Amino acid sequence: MRTPLVVGNWKLHLGLKDAQSLARALVQGIEPDLPCEVGVAPVFTVLQAVASVLEGSPIALCAQDLHWVDKGPYTGAVGAPFLVELGCRYVIVGHSERRQHFGENDRIVRLKVEAALRGGLAPIACVGESLTERERGEAFVVVRRQVEAIVEGLDGVERLVIAYEPVWAIGTGKVAEPQDAQAMHAAIREIVARHAGQSIANAMRILYGGSVKPENAPGLLREPDIDGALVGGASLDARSFLAIIHAVRP
Ligand code: 13P
Repeated sequence: MRTPLVVGNWKLHLGLKDAQSLARALVQGIEPDLPCEVGVAPVFTVLQAVASVLEGSPIALCAQDLHWVDKGPYTGAVGAPFLVELGCRYVIVGHSERRQHFGENDRIVRLKVEAALRGGLAPIACVGESLTERERGEAFVVVRRQVEAIVEGLDGVERLVIAYEPVWAIGTGKVAEPQDAQAMHAAIREIVARHAGQSIANAMRILYGGSVKPENAPGLLREPDIDGALVGGASLDARSFLAIIHAVRP
């Protein structure tokens, strides 16, 4: 019913040579007839070089961010049409690192989601609570606020992907227990159903991110509402990323 999606977020890693050689290793190592979609999100400056390696392969090119305005006097920004021109299919939006280090709030995340959809990109919108919020018992409230800011009255919500990335699990080696992640994913689907209808919610991919590794991927991906993974560190190594991809079972 839902085609799982596994995306490698390369963050601010891998320059030209390393990015191309990782892309090459993935293209060579990926099994044919995968039961899932796969994508990689390199740094902006190497998107084009990675695109040429991925050409003809089943791996989708993704961007890590975009500006909410398509073009104009915005020094340093990259708008959706520029990403589409390079062949990007997905764009990560509202990653907690953008929220934390670049001051992005729910309003900016929403504008970026709209810009992505307007431009023909599928946004992968990230939500997730911090450790303090989880310890205070506020995880569900925080995630509900973030999800509602994204989906309320949104045109094109059927093309949206949501990634639940608890901030305390990102880059820490502390992964959410599959049943805890499942509970949050089910809650997210319910919120989407309330705002966009049950059939859109049923069809929406909700990815888990935060210390996904080959060892914990099978347990997470077995959960009914976990439709794939957004992988950071483990996506920088071809063997471990391929192992995560191949952990997806039809
Ligand atoms: P890690 O897999 O390194 O924890 O990063 C997760 C992430 O932020 C993916 O977007």
